[in-house]
Amino acid sequence: MLSLRSVTKRYGALTALDGVSLDIARGEFFGLLGPNGAGKSTLMALAAGLRSPDAGTLTLDGGVVTPADPRTRTSLGLVPQSIALYEELSADQNLRIFGALYGLRGAQLRRRIDEALAAVQLTDRRRDPVKTFSGGMQRRLNLVAALLHQPKLLLCDEPTVGVDPQSRNAIFDYLTALNRAGLTIIYSTHYMEEATRLCSRIGIIDHGRIPALGTLDELLTRLPFEEEISFPATPETAPLAALLGADGTLVSADGRHRFQPRADFRLSAFYTRAEALGLPPRLFTAARPTLEAVFLHLTGRNLRE
Ligand SMILES: Nc1ncnc2c1ncn2[C@@H]1O[C@H](COP(=O)(O)OP(=O)(O)O)[C@@H](O)[C@H]1O
Ligand SMILES: [Mg+2]
Repeated sequence: MLSLRSVTKRYGALTALDGVSLDIARGEFFGLLGPNGAGKSTLMALAAGLRSPDAGTLTLDGGVVTPADPRTRTSLGLVPQSIALYEELSADQNLRIFGALYGLRGAQLRRRIDEALAAVQLTDRRRDPVKTFSGGMQRRLNLVAALLHQPKLLLCDEPTVGVDPQSRNAIFDYLTALNRAGLTIIYSTHYMEEATRLCSRIGIIDHGRIPALGTLDELLTRLPFEEEISFPATPETAPLAALLGADGTLVSADGRHRFQPRADFRLSAFYTRAEALGLPPRLFTAARPTLEAVFLHLTGRNLRE
């Protein structure tokens, strides 16, 4: 559906995308996971033909991506990171404008708008100005505005930032249903939970490069450990935490330590040590590592800045 070949994009001295090659197959729900500034929006803008690469090529459905080419424009829908709606106008009026831009009119446009509003539970608010909508409602409307012309590829750029949990779930359910019905989706996010839950394949992006790409299971095999052990960060556990640095990585956040052992470290040694320090087993939880751990392992950085 979409291919990037050695795509580079610079803004002055800054390289926002650095020789990225990537193939997205038809029907995929592809996640682009990386922190702020990684290059996600730049990749989306290039895929949508809104910006041109400094080097490399992008092809959409076999043809080179060119903004002037109507084929590029009708094949894809872009849900931009910042909400792009007319605040003074109603939901209905907004969708009429977006539909008209794609050449929809008359009964067909009305039907698509009715379906779109129903799909994101905004039918009863259709006549209200968008400025009276919550952030989540605006996000939902922004999403369907990109779908009225029934594109083959949907680019979603961090569509849940600033969204309440209820709207977020509505967006997830809707996108999952669309993907099941055949829509190819590229979804960027800095939330590993979203990539884990939604995406069939995930590319990890950092500093304009994609150092790893695959299914969740494939990405987890990039880690030298299969389980990590978490425990509360308290004065009681401090002596244990102090010992662990040599045996792996200790990630500490939100009042907890997560110990990610080195490849040759045996977890039995961990428990022996904890017992020797008088720490009860109930303090420790062994768990499958997360994408956050993969990200840290590959980039040396946390997803959360
Ligand atoms: N229009 C621009 N002019 C200059 N620098 C930019 C511009 N857009 C993005 N950048 C820079 O390019 C890098 C990648 O940005 P972006 O693609 O927006 O990342 P992300 O969407 O992952 O947060 C960042 O360092 C950002 O500051
Ligand atoms: Mg962005």
